[in-house]
Amino acid sequence: MNNSARIDQIIATHAGREGPLLPILHDVQKEFGCVDAEAEAQIAHGLNLSRAEVHGVVSFYHDFTAAADPRAVVQICRAEACKARGVEALIGAAEAAAGGRVRISTVYCLGLCSVGPNARVGSDLHARLDEAALVKLVQSA
Ligand code: FES
Repeated sequence: MNNSARIDQIIATHAGREGPLLPILHDVQKEFGCVDAEAEAQIAHGLNLSRAEVHGVVSFYHDFTAAADPRAVVQICRAEACKARGVEALIGAAEAAAGGRVRISTVYCLGLCSVGPNARVGSDLHARLDEAALVKLVQSA
């Protein structure tokens, strides 16, 4: 199955639901590592939207990228509870440890608010992070 056929399949999976665009974009991003211009056009056609409407959503959310990024990703929660638990003071050390090898991304709540600061690598959640633990996590990503 080529990418185009698979994207058609993803569109068909979500087309009947309310607000299908975001779930489609998430599935395409997850499966192909990006939502490129070709995918945007195909999704627009499949949902009877303009290309600009789809591109507007893709470019608004940091979850979607136009090209695949081969780097490991560490998602750090910067929502209120993690902020109250000091996550902002850890960001600089995480970015320094990441260098160009790891991509640090911001997410807003990982559902573990009472045990923050929290981060996610792949599907693994990491809680109660201090600077040393976060740096170690970034270095091992
Ligand atoms: S605020 Fe960080 S996990 Fe909810």
